[in-house]
Parts: sequence; C-alpha cells; structure tokens
Amino acid sequence: MNLPNKVKIVEVGPRDGLQNEKEAVSAAVKIELVDRLARAGFRNVEAASFVSPKWVPQMATSAEVLAGIARLPGTIYSALTPNMQGFEAALASRADEVVIFGSASEAFSQRNINCSIAESIARFEPVARAAKDHGLRLRGSVSCSFGCPYQGEVPLSAVADVVGRMRDLGCDEIDIADTIGVSTPRKTQAVMETAARAFDLARIAGHFHDTYGQALANIYASMEVGVAIFHSSVSGLGGCPYAKGATGNVATEDVLYMLHGLGIETGVDLDQVVDAGDFISRQLGRKGASRAGNALLAKRTA
Ligand code: HMG
Ligand code: MG
Repeated sequence: MNLPNKVKIVEVGPRDGLQNEKEAVSAAVKIELVDRLARAGFRNVEAASFVSPKWVPQMATSAEVLAGIARLPGTIYSALTPNMQGFEAALASRADEVVIFGSASEAFSQRNINCSIAESIARFEPVARAAKDHGLRLRGSVSCSFGCPYQGEVPLSAVADVVGRMRDLGCDEIDIADTIGVSTPRKTQAVMETAARAFDLARIAGHFHDTYGQALANIYASMEVGVAIFHSSVSGLGGCPYAKGATGNVATEDVLYMLHGLGIETGVDLDQVVDAGDFISRQLGRKGASRAGNALLAKRTA
C-alpha cells in the first residue's frame, strides 16, 4: 500500500509526557507549552488529565491549564477522563475531546485504573453517553495492545475485543497503544490490521512509546497498512507511571523529520516544535530526548 499523503499528529507531550515527571511542573509552564504547540500547527493537543491526584499528582493542575491556554480556533484540546468525576471536570474546563482509556491487558487495567477491563467499560459507558450529549469528541485508548509489563504477551483477540467495545461506545477515534514500546514492525502491522477489522482504519491512531527504539519503524509500518494518525510527544517526554521502565512517547520532532522527509503533509512547523522542545527541556533542566530536535538545535548554533 502507498504511504498516506497526509498524517495527523496528536501532540501528547503536555499530558503523556509531563504526567511522568516527578517534580511538579507549574501550570504556567504547562500553559506556555500547550500554547507553543498549538501555534506550531497541531490541530489536536492532549493538554490535561482528570484522574485522581493521589494517583498522578502532576496532573492535578489540569483545570488551571485548560483555563489558562489561549485556545486557537479549530484546535482540539483533549483531556483524559477515566470516569464521570473526570468527565465533569473536563466538561467544566471546556475540553473539546475526552479520552476514555482502557487496556487490552487485564493485569495492566488493574494496575492503571484499579479495575478489570469489563468494569472499565462499564465506567466508560456513562462518560461516552455524556460526551455525546454535550457534543464533545470521544476518543478511546487501548493500552498494552502490543505487550504488557505485567502479563507479557497480549493476544490479538484481546485487542480486537477492546477495540470493538470502544467502537460500540461511540468513539470517534481509537488509539492502539504500545505502552511499553515493545512492538516491532511486522507485529505492529498484525495488530493494526486486527484493529482495522473492528474499527474504521481512517480513525485508528498509533500511540507508540519508544522504549526499545522501535517507534519510528512502527509508525512507518503502520502507515504501510493505512494508518494515518499518530501520537507523539515533544522532546520525547514521558512514560507511564504504571508501566515500570517505559520511556517516553516517540519524539514529535523525530516523527515530523521523517514524515516531512517522506513528503507527507502534517500542517506542523518543525522549527516551532524544536523551539517548544527546547523550552520544556530547559524548564525540566535536562537535554531533550529527540534526536532530530537536538540535531536541529546544534545546527542553529553551528
Ligand atoms: P479508584 O481508587 O478505584 O477510584 O481509582 P474511586 O472511584 O474508588 O475513588 C477513589 C478516590 O479517587 C476518591 O477520593 C475519588 O474522589 C478520587 P478520596 O475519597 O479517596 O479522597 N477520584 C478522582 N479524583 C479526581 N479525578 C477523578 C477521580 N476519580 C476518583 N477522575 C481511578 C480509579 C481511575 C480514579 C484511578 O485509578 C486513577 O486516577 N488512575 C490514574 C491512572 C492514570 O492516570 N494513568 C496514566 C494515564 S494512562 C496512560 O498513560 C496510557 C496512555 O498514554 C496510552 C498508553 O500509552 O498505553 C493513555
Ligand atoms: Mg502513553
């Protein structure tokens, strides 16, 4: 199959990236990061997460962040909502899209959201209905679709099952997530093809963490089977607090460098993303994790 001409990148750094930072990042810094990313051209920025602050303290400022950003028309600001309590907070904060997040692995579901897969779907039902009632976009995320840190192998049938349940809840988009970055390209294609038998391929997104350095290869492999939406995190920030050893999402700068090199349109200005990556890396007091970002920064000062 030909590669897509256009790809949508969902920038998840302000949520998936920052949620894993031990030191509190101020709401002001998060707001500036979200605004810089939106100005760089992303039409979808995952900016907040309305989860228990006892579980993920870094996300406790989510309402403040959504209240402080300079919203650009046409840009979708997303928030994670594991239950109705999260949904109500997201609604009050004027999130444009809510994300219900489940798992293809029972063990991970328990560790991450403290319930079984079946219980999680039951919790998502009222959230999904409320999202529709209020005209919000609804996204479903399926963690551990390629492997689980607790249970190891995850069967294709489990991915198909959860994707089907997310579809039946009315999700507008479904993310197939490699939470711990273990997949390799052929496996990625098999999982994506399985997901595409249960849900519209044009609305399937690849969410790859880069723990084993396979994320770009997995994105390329996904595009070969028709996936054209990907998540990435500026400067490669992140990880999951409930997936030990998992590193950040694939770095946005690296993805953009590859896609633009392939002649694929993203609508995003790589230079401005490099600036945003430099901004947040300085705030965190460390070098950014994007290879392309670091190379482009070095070139500027050469
Ligand atoms: P629980 O303890 O089973 O929930 O947690 P509960 O309903 O029994 O409530 C217990 C306490 O939490 C109560 O407070 C509630 O008010 C509070 P207390 O009475 O003890 O003071 N609470 C909340 N507070 C704020 N917002 C809420 C909320 N819900 C309950 N929405 C729960 C269940 C899901 C809440 C909990 O397990 C949780 O917050 N987990 C967080 C998990 C998380 O954020 N993980 C990281 C994001 S997922 C991810 O990164 C993967 C992804 O990137 C894809 C991939 O890579 O795989 C998306
Ligand atoms: Mg993730």
